[in-house]
Amino acid sequence: MPKTILVSVAWPYANGPRHIGHIAGFGVPSDIFARYHRLVGNKVLMVSGTDEHGTPITVEAEKEGVTPQELVDRYNAVIAEDLYNLGLSYDLFTRTTTRNHTAITQDLFKTLYEKGYIFVKSMMGAFSVRTGSTLPDRYIEGTCPHCGFTEARGDQCDNCGKQLDPMELIDPRSKIDGEPPVFRESEHFFLDLTAFVDPLRRWIEDQNHWRANVRAFSLNLLDDLHPRPITRDLEWGIPIPLPDYERRNDKKIYVWFDAVIGYLSASVEWAYNTGNPDAWRDWWQNEEARHYYFMGKDNIVFHSVIWPSMLIGYGNGVAGTLGGGEGEPLVIPYDIVSSEFLTMEGRKFSSSRGVVIYVKDILERYDPDALRFFLTIAGPEAQDTDFTWAEFVRRNNDELVATWGNLVNRVLTMAYKHFGRVPDPGRLEEADQALIAQVEHGFTSVGELIEACSFKAAIGEALHLADLVNRYLNDQAPWNLVKEDQVRAGSVLYAALRAIDNLKILLAPFLPFSTQRLHELLGNSGSLSGELRLTTAKEADGSSHRILTGDYEHRVGKWLASQLPAGQALPSPSPLFKKLDVSVVEAELGRMEASLAKG
Ligand code: MF3
Ligand code: ZN
Repeated sequence: MPKTILVSVAWPYANGPRHIGHIAGFGVPSDIFARYHRLVGNKVLMVSGTDEHGTPITVEAEKEGVTPQELVDRYNAVIAEDLYNLGLSYDLFTRTTTRNHTAITQDLFKTLYEKGYIFVKSMMGAFSVRTGSTLPDRYIEGTCPHCGFTEARGDQCDNCGKQLDPMELIDPRSKIDGEPPVFRESEHFFLDLTAFVDPLRRWIEDQNHWRANVRAFSLNLLDDLHPRPITRDLEWGIPIPLPDYERRNDKKIYVWFDAVIGYLSASVEWAYNTGNPDAWRDWWQNEEARHYYFMGKDNIVFHSVIWPSMLIGYGNGVAGTLGGGEGEPLVIPYDIVSSEFLTMEGRKFSSSRGVVIYVKDILERYDPDALRFFLTIAGPEAQDTDFTWAEFVRRNNDELVATWGNLVNRVLTMAYKHFGRVPDPGRLEEADQALIAQVEHGFTSVGELIEACSFKAAIGEALHLADLVNRYLNDQAPWNLVKEDQVRAGSVLYAALRAIDNLKILLAPFLPFSTQRLHELLGNSGSLSGELRLTTAKEADGSSHRILTGDYEHRVGKWLASQLPAGQALPSPSPLFKKLDVSVVEAELGRMEASLAKG
């Protein structure tokens, strides 16, 4: 029975281009996972989009002197294109400013309100004098009342580590314009998280497959859970769907409340776009479906506590857009796959200070598979990790090229030159059969590691298998055999080609571009994993927006041992990867220094 799997990928803010730290956290791991499960034959739905509301957007729009709408239109396009160029195979990458997303967010808000999980209360909040908008805690700076540090943030002091309330700061000022904020009472809607502590605790305690730190961190949060405000004094956001608030221009739904709903609304949009509007229910109202969420570690609380609370509270709805009351309750997460942080040459990424490598820039100079390889094998999967250009070049040359690329090139070149086709296996000897069997075992070992979200170990295992093929070739020396014993040379090259054809599939989730080329260099046609597409989607009301989607149905790849047919004609081979010159390191460091000086 195929499994039903939702691959839920964190929604990047549309307030600037994405850098490699972002895609290391949510992008590449989720795509490996989705591609693998499709190859296995499972039912996969992979959704995300740009996160387009809230102060992250309004602050940047003001800086760039454009409207929030213009800003998100611009960066939605930039981000979708970056993800496309990286080969991230979303079934739907959409946006949070669609009609569909607004309607579903309002449905959840209303339902939770009617069920008593959302209530109104007055609270003190900081405002910008100039714009009249909410000033979020992290945009307020001042002197710490505990240690005297002059650059403490409104939510915490980075010097003494104490949690702060912005009202405690001495000489508070806005980080945006340096002006002191005003504090005043304002009415807000709160999500009553305390109502969910018991079900959350019972559920999380059972989640032994979560990464240990995620589980411990989440359980810890439950010890001190309070109602959370889910509205803000801000113009830019989704209207509060209640009579006295619907038309107000100064109070909107908080960006995080709407963003997490994106996983559900994007699934609904995907179903609508495919012409089968109820198809989303197979993922969301199906006890058997497993939902995997991919994100950086700063997002954990929203995915392990807040979103599950909203889902539990919603149940199967009451009378909303989703056809409330019909079907089963909505599915809560199965796994929260959170990654750690990536730094760059020993520094924190910072666009404003010029410590940054944008996806677009790196892809202009290097192949997407080289970047995907590095971020998988040396990325921040389980601990904070530093990106250095020296290591990028070393891993590319000594691992990707030396272990895998050269192997492919050697074998294809010999087979092409001496046979022009996949040679006849003849009588395979024990060593040949053993090699094929060892590599075929990768379908189990690599597969299990990917299923457990251990991507670094999974690609390491695949490289280890490639290394076995290198050793086999060194032992068998087909370059000598072709001169002495053509038949035996044919058997050895056949075994090596079979091994490579297997590795092609084992590596396809990690290296989609180069494995597709290899597929063709082995004389095959068709698309291994399907094709991505940047296009436009129309909504029921006639409005339209850009999306990233794909056709992954018409693929020929399967997570199964190779059946490479003897006699298949081989085209003229060419290398899969480029070796990088060491001068790259200096050139890139020079670029960084230059942008640091400007920043
Ligand atoms: N935009 C957020 C960030 O970049 C992530 C949102 S994830 C979702 O940190 F849950 F809201 F989708
Ligand atoms: Zn302090």
